[in-house]
Amino acid sequence: MQLVTEDNITELAVERWATARDPRLSELMTALVRHLHEFAREVRLTEAEWMAAMQWLTRAGQISDDKREEFILASDVLGLSMLVVQMNHRLDPAATPATVLGPFHIEGSPELGYGEDMSDGVPGTPLYLSGTVRDLDGNPVAGGVLDVWQADTEGAYESQLPDVDEARLRAKYTTRQDGGYCVRTIAPKGYTIPMDGPVGDLVERTAISHFRPAHVHFLINVPGHEPLITHLFQEGAEYLDSDVVFGTKEELVVRFEQREPGATPEGGTSATPWVEGRYDFVLQRRS
Ligand SMILES: [Fe+2]
Repeated sequence: MQLVTEDNITELAVERWATARDPRLSELMTALVRHLHEFAREVRLTEAEWMAAMQWLTRAGQISDDKREEFILASDVLGLSMLVVQMNHRLDPAATPATVLGPFHIEGSPELGYGEDMSDGVPGTPLYLSGTVRDLDGNPVAGGVLDVWQADTEGAYESQLPDVDEARLRAKYTTRQDGGYCVRTIAPKGYTIPMDGPVGDLVERTAISHFRPAHVHFLINVPGHEPLITHLFQEGAEYLDSDVVFGTKEELVVRFEQREPGATPEGGTSATPWVEGRYDFVLQRRS
């Protein structure tokens, strides 16, 4: 029988978890044990601090449901989500960079035509986002689907609102033969992450800004190409350099130009002032 001591407990725990039948699970669990023990040793974790951490995790679980993902939020604000994205999407520097998916994407958005309005009835300044989708050689990607979603001007996504019957501020747009796309929506605003749970409690005890800069989400999944999950951010938006989930990248910042009433990119006209953003997505072929 091997007695447990402060010195040998890490090796004993690693040995036990190394027995995981799946080799990758064994690798993950033994590394997790080593790093957790090292963390506890480094900070000389007290029993009160350990209990506070356990209660924090319990609260994070209790507040989560099929619409609220407190653990993903925790991963986002710790920078873990963005680190995992960057390690797993090392794209060519000329390709559009990837960012976090976030917790608000909804499957099955309606398909809209070139320049059709995905903000139907939601108040806000009209925004047209248009450009092309191309590969790294400059060839247009025809028939590519852009899955687009965003928050309203109060910062609310569809999944955060009760009793929404129809798709709200989300749609799928398909590129034309020339790779061109045109999204009609409303200008987004910056918003705060949910602050009424354990993640908010922790953030409030720091000088961390709990806001995200104004953005629109894109998921572009074209056969034969690396799937691209990304955002477009408004140039000059507040919080661009302090995004609480570390999602901003310089290459994804777009100028939103103010336009007077008149002709719009899809061939229509706007009776009110509107805003225009132009952006060309570049996809990397799958190797
Ligand atoms: Fe968002």
